[in-house]
Amino acid sequence: MFDRTDAHITTWAIAIILFVIALFLLKSGNKKATKIVQMILRVFYLLIIATGVTLFARHSDFDPALYGFKFLGGIVIIAMMEMVLVRTNLNKKTGIFWAILIIAFIVTFYLGARLPIGWNWFA
Ligand code: HEM
Repeated sequence: MFDRTDAHITTWAIAIILFVIALFLLKSGNKKATKIVQMILRVFYLLIIATGVTLFARHSDFDPALYGFKFLGGIVIIAMMEMVLVRTNLNKKTGIFWAILIIAFIVTFYLGARLPIGWNWFA
């Protein structure tokens, strides 16, 4: 849990799947099912943060700046997933939130894969 990233990867992978399911349910007009999936998704937001903070607390000394950006990027992704879902539900524009979501995902994924624990693709 403290030195392995499996739990963290599992939580954000499931969150992405739930996010896509919630979007499809919203588009198909199934409000009740959307609400249920969204509630489960919110639990996964907390699990992503809990597993991320655990890794952060143990390893951020290695490179506080990069770990700090990784932390921030993860939080931004979660905030943008929530914004996209809430605004799609209200029929409001989501373009800017999608853009931030995609950029934050690329940056966060890169940082996660670059930092030393678990995947270490860019060393
Ligand atoms: C949906 C949001 C998130 C995504 C897509 C994501 C993605 C990733 C990826 C791809 C890794 C690399 C896994 C590996 O090396 O095996 C990682 C590791 C990590 N994540 Fe996240 N993450 C997210 C949220 C967060 C949050 C909110 C935090 C902090 C609270 C966080 C902190 C960390 C830390 C500290 C690591 C270990 C970095 C390392 O040394 O390799 N992440 N994450």
